[in-house]
Amino acid sequence: MLAVAALLMAGLLALLAPFSMVVLVLRSHQQPLTGGLAGLTIPVPKTFESDSHEEFLALPRSAARPSLHPVYSSSPSLSPTPYWHPHVRWVFVITPSKQRYTQRVDLVRLMNTLSHIDNLHWILVEDNVKQSPKVDRWLNESRVQHYTHLFAPSRAKKRMKVRGSQQRNRAILHLKNMIANEEDEALKKAYQEGVVYFADDDNAYSLALFDELRRVKSIGVWPVAFTAGRYVERCILNETTGHIASYQAWNSTGRAFPIDMGGFGIHTRLFLPENASADPPLFDMRSKHGQLESDFLGQFGIPLADLEPLADNCTKVNVWHVKTKIDKIDKDIDLAIDV
Ligand SMILES: *[C@@H]1O[C@H](CO)[C@@H](O)[C@H](O)[C@H]1NC(C)=O
Repeated sequence: MLAVAALLMAGLLALLAPFSMVVLVLRSHQQPLTGGLAGLTIPVPKTFESDSHEEFLALPRSAARPSLHPVYSSSPSLSPTPYWHPHVRWVFVITPSKQRYTQRVDLVRLMNTLSHIDNLHWILVEDNVKQSPKVDRWLNESRVQHYTHLFAPSRAKKRMKVRGSQQRNRAILHLKNMIANEEDEALKKAYQEGVVYFADDDNAYSLALFDELRRVKSIGVWPVAFTAGRYVERCILNETTGHIASYQAWNSTGRAFPIDMGGFGIHTRLFLPENASADPPLFDMRSKHGQLESDFLGQFGIPLADLEPLADNCTKVNVWHVKTKIDKIDKDIDLAIDV
């Protein structure tokens, strides 16, 4: 009788062993995590503890991919998906977008890329006097996990030749306020340690770009293909120092920072001035043609040689400056159909 009981007990323990391992593994993930974010420690809030399928199915569509260990937050900034990953650095992607024939196809392609990235908050700013219901619908249909939909009309002044500044500035100010007003302390800390990227809506981006973005300590740079009539624009390193020596780019001597909009990422903290009422660095609406990025980057007080050469010392291309070209279109636009 005793022997049978012991045997049963041993069998039960053997059966349970794998489960207790799982429990241990889960526990270790709940410790504050370091590393990967350059020394940042984020206390991990309430973990999402549920293995019921029903609960996953009830989540917003984009959360139905429970990779790693997301945590729940009721923060209004986490929309539409209320889950985030405490051990993954936040990427804020800022995109100005203007109405045109190819707006939807360009946005669909971009949304399909951004949908793959956890802890990505997309700030899409329409060049418009209001939020258009169309763009709102496209966003809703996307699988992007976190986004904000804003608008800002371009001022139609002749001197302001470079488009997108008002929209990018609207997004930068929104981001600053969003982080300042964040009530979930763990999320706020993670936001402060994030990285900001300016992604035009018609370019092509590889998923590896977001890994590079997460390496940025202050301002990181990488090559951009097909920009300004060049095969590639990229930084050239001094072999001995490992610092940036020069740029292989259009007008590289006439621009202090000869870098395309898609060629740099900036630590979120550089947009959070110590004096909370001060303006963060913004784009200058009066920048001359070709000087917008250079003028913008000049405000941070970091010399070109101190920017971080990423993507294997500026030898890998993860972003392509492209434009969607379509054949001639007849003038009768069918407004009833979303094209
Ligand atoms: C980048 O260049 C530096 C210095 O030239 C070198 O030490 C380092 O190994 C290089 N990194 C990669 C990923 O190629």
